[in-house]
Amino acid sequence: MDHELRVERVDQLSDADLADLCEATDAAIIEGGGFGWVEPQGREALTRHFRGVLLVPAIELFIARLDGVPVGSAQLIRPPRNNEAQAFGAQLTHAYIAPYARGHGLARLLVSRVEERAAALGHRVLNLDVRETQHTAITLFEVMGYTRWGTHPAYARVRGRTVAGHYYHKLLEPPHGRTLDISGNG
Ligand SMILES: CC(C)(COP(=O)(O)OP(=O)(O)OC[C@H]1O[C@@H](n2cnc3c(N)ncnc32)[C@H](O)[C@@H]1OP(=O)(O)O)[C@@H](O)C(=O)NCCC(=O)NCCS
Repeated sequence: MDHELRVERVDQLSDADLADLCEATDAAIIEGGGFGWVEPQGREALTRHFRGVLLVPAIELFIARLDGVPVGSAQLIRPPRNNEAQAFGAQLTHAYIAPYARGHGLARLLVSRVEERAAALGHRVLNLDVRETQHTAITLFEVMGYTRWGTHPAYARVRGRTVAGHYYHKLLEPPHGRTLDISGNG
C-alpha cells in the first residue's frame, strides 16, 4: 500500500496532533534516542516541551506525517540577531521518525524541507551534530550531502557511558541563482 508522506512547518498544534507527536517522540527515545533525551518523558513533559518550542522565535518546528498522523519532527534553529557574523548559518536539530514509521522516506523529506526553508530564509549553511551511535542518521546525512568536519570525543553521556559525536555541515544553494562562495574572496 502506498503511504501518504507529508512534512509541514507548524506554528500551532492541535491536542490530537500533539498527543501523536508525544507518542512518536517517546517511541523514538525508547528505541535509542536521537532527541537528546535518554529516558522516555511521558506525555505531559513532552507537551510542555513542544508548546515551549512553538513560543521561541528562533526555532521553527517541522512535523512529519505518515497518512496524516504525526510520527516525527525536526527543529530549525536560527542564530540570534546579535550574531551577525554567523547569520548565514542555521542548525538542524532533534530530527527523528518514530520506529513504527521508518523506511518510507519521511526523514529524507523532513531534512529536505528544513534545508529548503533555511535557504529561503537566507541561510547558506546548515549545521548539525549526531551521536556516533546513530548509524542510520549518519548514513542519511552523508547520502544527503553533509560533510563531516569534526568529531567530539566527549559529546554525550548515555547510561553512564561517554559517547562521541560527529559534526556536519552542508552548503545550501540560494533559492534563485547565485552559488555560494565561501573561499573568503567573495
Ligand atoms: C535517522 C532516521 C530519522 C531515519 O528515518 P527514516 O524515515 O526511516 O529514513 P528514510 O526512510 O527517509 O531513509 C532515508 C535514508 O536513510 C538511510 N537509511 C534509512 N534506513 C536505513 C537503515 N535501516 N540502514 C541504513 N540506512 C538507512 C538510507 O540512505 C535512506 O535512503 P534510501 O531509502 O534512499 O536508501 C530514524 O532512523 C531515526 O529517527 N533515528 C533515531 C533518531 C536519530 O538518530 N536522529 C538523528 C540525530 S538528530
